[in-house]
Order: sequence, then C-alpha cells, then structure tokens
Amino acid sequence: MHNQNKFRVGTGYDVHRLVEGRKLILGGVEIPYEKGLLGHSDADVLLHAIMDALLGAATLGDIGRHFPDNDPEYYGVSSLKLLKKVEQAIRERGFSIGNIDATVIAQKPKIAPFLQEMRQKIALTLQIELDCINIKGTTTEQLGFCGRGEGIAAQASVILYR
Ligand code: CDP
Ligand code: ZN
Repeated sequence: MHNQNKFRVGTGYDVHRLVEGRKLILGGVEIPYEKGLLGHSDADVLLHAIMDALLGAATLGDIGRHFPDNDPEYYGVSSLKLLKKVEQAIRERGFSIGNIDATVIAQKPKIAPFLQEMRQKIALTLQIELDCINIKGTTTEQLGFCGRGEGIAAQASVILYR
C-alpha cells in the first residue's frame, strides 16, 4: 500500500426528497411522520452520508459505485445492510473506525427522541462503541429546500485509523 497514513478523514453528504406514501427511516430507525424519503433503497439519508464518509476515508469511492441505484438487488433494501457491507470493505483494507459525527438537516420531524436508538443500531452494525458515534439534528430556520420540508439532508465526518 502506497499511502501508509495512520489516520484518514472522510466526509459524506446526501439529500433525499420527502414524499407522501413512504416510511421515514433515519439511522435505521422508523420515525413516525406524514411523509418519508424517496429513493431506490430505503432512502436512509443519514446512513448514506455515513457510508460515503467511511468509503471516502478508505479511498473506496462512494455508495453509488458500490450499490448502483439501477441494481434490482438494492431495491427497497435496508441501508443498515449496506452499512454492514461498507464496514466489511473498510475492515478488509485494515482500517478501524475512530469516531463518526453526523448531522441530520430537517425542518421536521424532531429527531431528538430517536437519536439514542439510531446510535445503538449504527454502533451494533459497525461493531464500535456507542461512545464513537454522535448524531444530531438541526433545522435550517425554514430556509431553503430543507426548511420548506421538500427534503432532508445529512452530512457526516469520520476518522479511520490503522
Ligand atoms: O441552531 P440549532 O440547530 O441549535 O437550532 P434548531 O435548528 O432550531 O434546532 C434546535 C434543536 O432541535 C437542535 O439542537 C436539535 O437538538 C433539535 N432538532 C431535532 O431534534 N430534530 C430536527 N429535525 C431539528 C432539530
Ligand atoms: Zn442517499
């Protein structure tokens, strides 16, 4: 391996449209709400941002490359399953996860009551301590597409080490 850096940083960003008739899944947790996120998989925007950050830190591209959205295998798939595959890919390259910090950008609904459950599901899937994963929510003060409730965005940062 040419690059022997001990620490590797990665960032991820994703957006999905909010529509009627879909479940809202964030961080692997179903959140009661009148709308859900549109996408080929379960459209879990938070897990998508986290996966892109993990893949980025490992120089493995992005989720579009690993799980193409025209592949029927990934239709309606739980993003926790995809996260597990990402975890295996980065472990195969000899990386361990230092920590993950992620933000969900949504005007509504309030996600604070579900953060603990999201952290638990992610920590279990990635085989990391609860202490290594932080998730938070913010609104955009009713500004822009998130503020109008047209979609939800998420961003994530990770540190990998080996
Ligand atoms: O500027 P700040 O993020 O503190 O304020 P805000 O966007 O009005 O959000 C206030 C608080 O609500 C945040 O600190 C989050 O803890 C929480 N929040 C949430 O639980 N779910 C959201 N979709 C947005 C915000
Ligand atoms: Zn996505």
